[in-house]
Amino acid sequence: MKKITKAVIPAAGLGTRMLPISHAVPKEMLPIVDLPAVYYLVEEAVKSGITDILIITNRDKDAMESFFDLSIEYENALTAKGKLAEAKRLHEIADMANVFFLRQKETKGLGHAIGRACSFVGDEPFLVLYGDDIIFSKTPVCRQMIDVYEKYGKPVVGVKPVTPEQLTKYSSLKVDALPGEDRVTFCTDMIEKPKPGEEFSNLSVLGRVLLTPEVFDIIDALEPGAGGEYQLTDAMKKMAREGGVYALEFEGDRYDLGSKSGLLKANIVKGLEHPETRDDLKEFLREIIKTL
Ligand code: UTP
Repeated sequence: MKKITKAVIPAAGLGTRMLPISHAVPKEMLPIVDLPAVYYLVEEAVKSGITDILIITNRDKDAMESFFDLSIEYENALTAKGKLAEAKRLHEIADMANVFFLRQKETKGLGHAIGRACSFVGDEPFLVLYGDDIIFSKTPVCRQMIDVYEKYGKPVVGVKPVTPEQLTKYSSLKVDALPGEDRVTFCTDMIEKPKPGEEFSNLSVLGRVLLTPEVFDIIDALEPGAGGEYQLTDAMKKMAREGGVYALEFEGDRYDLGSKSGLLKANIVKGLEHPETRDDLKEFLREIIKTL
């Protein structure tokens, strides 16, 4: 079985839920304490054994490219000021992985964005980390997904149970239990943004999928789906109906950074861990809670 070394991060969406800021700053560059959201995705992939990462961007998102690059002038200025640890940290970020960028020239949906990754992926299975979904977990979720792929040899979708209201915004999966498995089920159908009554179960695909290259022919033949966009769920639905895919209820806490409250929650969680902010933030939260 081929080792999985490639990941794709679609990050070319319009980010309308994060307006007005997303008009000028890519939402993937909004900070969680002192690191941009996209850093956490790359870190998760790298910790899972991924070496090559393609980020799908658009013309307004060059800041991501700068973040994973090195600026010699900036580094020299830091070194001159004796800030050697900071300069080293920037180097570590630039060296994390081979990070590639490709622009999706028209915002035609997540399925269309993934279709752009065809020549990067070639003939290999690959991971997709949705650019909005940050997941904090003990074992990186990409690693959890790879483990399932290595056991069953078929595409894997990361899922979580969600509320009826969330189901109508995400997707719903038809799954069968597997003997001896707690968190892994076999998925034979799915629907994007089901209307009430159309749902199969309360399980939705959230943030991570592991796909095989057959998906590209399916994407090429897609018709526009929900919202007039080319939906990745529609491509995965065909895979689920024809050969089946595995669904992993992953371990980890997911934050939707495409939403204002998701960004704030992720900042509180990471702010309570960061040595420079945790004590101050704890004190502040204790005080503010008294007023709620
Ligand atoms: P979303 O629909 O959640 O993101 O797409 P969005 O369109 O940026 O957000 P809103 O709804 O307008 O606030 C899920 C993921 O797919 C990417 C997004 O960047 C996000 O990571 N995406 C979506 C693309 O890369 N290209 C697209 O055409 C659409």
